[in-house]
Amino acid sequence: MSLAQGRQILAIPGPSVMPDRVLNAMHRAAPNIYAGALVDMMPGLRADLKAVARTAQNVAIYIANGHGAWEAANVNMFSRGDKALSLVTGRFGEGWAQQARDLGVEVEAIDFGRKGPVDANRVEAALRADPGGRIRVVLLTQVDTATSVLNDVAAVRAAIDAAGHPALLAVDCIASMGCDRFEFDAWGVDVAVSASQKGLMVPPGLGFVWVSDKAMEVCRTSNLRTPYWDWTVRARASEFWMNFGGTAPTHHIYGLRESLTMIHEEGLDHVWARHDTLARAVWAAFEAWGEGAPNIALNIADPAARARAVTAARIAEPDATRLRQWCETEAGVTLGIGLGMAPPDDPRWHGFLRVGHMGHVNAHMILGTLGVMEAGLQALKIPHGTGGVAAAARVVAGG
Ligand SMILES: Cc1ncc(COP(=O)(O)O)c(C=O)c1O
Repeated sequence: MSLAQGRQILAIPGPSVMPDRVLNAMHRAAPNIYAGALVDMMPGLRADLKAVARTAQNVAIYIANGHGAWEAANVNMFSRGDKALSLVTGRFGEGWAQQARDLGVEVEAIDFGRKGPVDANRVEAALRADPGGRIRVVLLTQVDTATSVLNDVAAVRAAIDAAGHPALLAVDCIASMGCDRFEFDAWGVDVAVSASQKGLMVPPGLGFVWVSDKAMEVCRTSNLRTPYWDWTVRARASEFWMNFGGTAPTHHIYGLRESLTMIHEEGLDHVWARHDTLARAVWAAFEAWGEGAPNIALNIADPAARARAVTAARIAEPDATRLRQWCETEAGVTLGIGLGMAPPDDPRWHGFLRVGHMGHVNAHMILGTLGVMEAGLQALKIPHGTGGVAAAARVVAGG
């Protein structure tokens, strides 16, 4: 008998659960785009978008998903034939670099594997090996959603500085914005990209690029730039329509306004702390399930290098897929598929899954998801250690 009736929970790493407040804010008749509430809310919206990235510098908004935000950053940062240094810790790092290559950028990639973070010493060495300063931008993914690794952005900045290299630092925060601590100004980031559908709790459709004053200046002459993606126009919009290069994404703006209000009401530091506790609850459950059960393991062994937005784990094939299917059909919880660890037609595809814990998540959602997973492990007779939910509850209880 399926027990899936009732409210479904989407526990994938984006798009994430949308708060009722966001949905209700979007549920309205078509607004005037020439005057009134929509137009008036833009200055405050832009200020709050900067606050969520902890910057007083610039932000450009696009009607786009994360791939669009990547492209917006790439075409503004590079001229054809420029060189980038890409730090790869998963599929999304690869994807951003490949897009740059496809645009005519020469990309040197350092691949750090799929189970751990960037080693800043290797970044420093690579930059020292470029005495002519050909590398224009270092591309880093703060949280690679495929592997659930968390990279140390400040350490990469320090490596660039230690090498005395002029490269800009560009960071993909698509999975991490509003989940893991991110300090654009304090960490010396030049470009950050994100999108609406994860920690920012809005449907897919808005992309954001935060830009330092320095990057604005250095990239003034980039010749890959096209009019629609030009961040100078977007970031310095003097009229409402310039914020979007045309018709505004009216209802997304209302949704974003509400989600940013929710984040600022809670307090960004509290939002990060909530994600930290809930992530640790998920890790505690997996660690208990993996006790004496070598078929189950977190992908990232070092807690310091684990994302607070998503957890990737191995459950030996085909059990990750069996468990995902059981949770969805029997209990109404949708877990994330394994991504980029092996091609979809490779059997190892069925040995990996991800739990999203980003954005609008609270203790009961996480404990509920973990409880369902534990029930699924039992129902499917997948070997596992006991006490996963109890271990997670101890984290939630502050133990
Ligand atoms: C870290 C990261 N970068 C880029 C992307 C691509 O974003 P989108 O699917 O919105 O194009 C994703 C999507 O999951 C992501 O997690």
